Amino acid sequence: MCGIVGYIGEEQAAPVLLEGLGKLEYRGYDSAGVAVHNDSGLHVVKSKGRLAVLEEILHKGETLPGTVGIGHTRWATHGAPSDVNSHPQVSDGGTFAVVHNGIIENYLYLKNHLKRRGVEFVSDTDTEVVAQMLEYYYSRNGEGPDPVLAAIKQVTDRVEGSYALGIICADCPEKVFAVRKDSPLIVGLGDRENFIASDVTAILSRTRRICRLKDREIAVLERDGASFFDGDLYPIEKPEETVEWDVAAAEKGGYEHFMMKEICEQPEALRKTISPRIREGRIQLDDIPLSREDIQGISRIFIVACGTSYHVGAVAKYAFEKLLRLPIEVDVASEFRYRDPILDEKTLVIIISQSGETADTLAALREAKRQGARTLSIVNVVGSTIANESDGVLYTWAGPEIAVASTKAYSTQLAMIYLIALYMVQELGVLPEEELAGYVEALEELPQMAARCLEEGKEAIQYFAAQYFNAGDMYFIGRNVDYAASLEASLKLKEISYIHSEAYTGGELKHGPISLIEDGVLVIAICTYGKLFDKMMANIREVKARGAVVLGIGTEDMRSKLAQETDWQFCVPKVPDFMLPSMSILPLQLFAYYVASMKGCDIDKPRNLAKSVTVE
Ligand code: M6R
Repeated sequence: MCGIVGYIGEEQAAPVLLEGLGKLEYRGYDSAGVAVHNDSGLHVVKSKGRLAVLEEILHKGETLPGTVGIGHTRWATHGAPSDVNSHPQVSDGGTFAVVHNGIIENYLYLKNHLKRRGVEFVSDTDTEVVAQMLEYYYSRNGEGPDPVLAAIKQVTDRVEGSYALGIICADCPEKVFAVRKDSPLIVGLGDRENFIASDVTAILSRTRRICRLKDREIAVLERDGASFFDGDLYPIEKPEETVEWDVAAAEKGGYEHFMMKEICEQPEALRKTISPRIREGRIQLDDIPLSREDIQGISRIFIVACGTSYHVGAVAKYAFEKLLRLPIEVDVASEFRYRDPILDEKTLVIIISQSGETADTLAALREAKRQGARTLSIVNVVGSTIANESDGVLYTWAGPEIAVASTKAYSTQLAMIYLIALYMVQELGVLPEEELAGYVEALEELPQMAARCLEEGKEAIQYFAAQYFNAGDMYFIGRNVDYAASLEASLKLKEISYIHSEAYTGGELKHGPISLIEDGVLVIAICTYGKLFDKMMANIREVKARGAVVLGIGTEDMRSKLAQETDWQFCVPKVPDFMLPSMSILPLQLFAYYVASMKGCDIDKPRNLAKSVTVE
């Protein structure tokens, strides 16, 4: 939800900012802007529309001289996408320019307060309040030791909500200021140049040395270094980290879209997530302290997440309940945080998040901790807030996921779930050794199974997509783990192709949704779960009798039976039941991709969405 960058160095700032914004555009893309400091003061150029519009206005940055600046790519929360609501927002007197990611919840109260004191507002944004407050306090701070820092503290003392702020001040031409609370922000340290950014991908081509700001900490960047202060303006030391991510991993590498690149990276991402955690046939989760006694002390598990990560939870319920016979509750994070869940120290709450920054998921984690539950997170972005605040974190080693539609994060999160469930089984000794060994072996083989499935899927699924990309509605049905996979397949299709789709359990159809089935409607039936295969065939007959066309996704051993009941078939390798979604989702990710591509949709940046939802 919005990407911010800042630069101070010896090069021209605008091209550097535009390059960084290009890497952050996945966070929001309804408007963009930059503010640059030069000899004649602060200069702001911003525009509604994609970053390309701003680049065009600025001729790739060449027409905005200056070596200090901040930039923003927006996903609108307060105020419609428009030139005036774009960031940077500038204070009334022109002293401060501000870029912001987050939401200032009490902005109306603060705005009215300033208006009564004669401050004039021009935008509908919550961010303008920050710019105006900075100027208001700064102009009253006089000649103190650092009136800008004092003004930042006065503002952060008063605003409620979440923010990552990049700030430049007309009176401090050699500084960039930054502060954050509950929204991500890193500081990048280079050689006579320094940066701020919402995430590392924006600065990876220029430096790997970063510092992470904690809530309310302030960074002051100059050309030769950065200094840091706590919320009370006491100087603090910040540890430096080195980012290991490969620069190429954040580039398209010859693919037309990040989404296809990320779909194809799944076998490798699975291998990186799984293989370091299996040694000599045993699962080792060295990264978390979860002893046999700890596991024995768990009476209930909650799995909490949003979107695709929540759909991983839906699969996890089947896997954990089958393997561990423990009660599992799976919650959408935005509901969990407000439903007053009953938790105690015997409850394990597993939080799943690719970005590690999703606002609802972070709030759920905090609620779980507040109630004394143990927390364990499955996160992709190293050092993210959820990773930092959980009692234990297991990283999925998927590398940067740039496309808004999640693919390799889903696959690696699933792998992590299998690892945790099998680790618990192993520590508790609740399964015969050979059975456990069989599952561990299947898990190790998952990357090559995924590679085979994708290889076989590409052509067949592309051909199938070409027959149906004009459809108005599609339905996904499945039972047990296949239902969990249907939820994700349906989300993938609708979010990038804008085709209306729904996912239902096979058994639920006749309780209402079947009334939607008419001649020619496409139903995609996931039927990999052998124990309920016959039940699914009965459901398929029901929809076919009402005119549906059916694509069946089954396992290779059921190919001929599937062919007897369905119009189209695609078969995936057979793996243990609870791992089946790792296979069945692959052709359906491809399907969503090809349908969206044939419809000419903006696959990596679907309308109204953003990659990481850091607002409630
Ligand atoms: O970063 P997170 O895993 O916490 O994100 C959760 C959802 O916002 C995310 O999975 C979203 O649903 C994706 N667009 C799905 O493709």
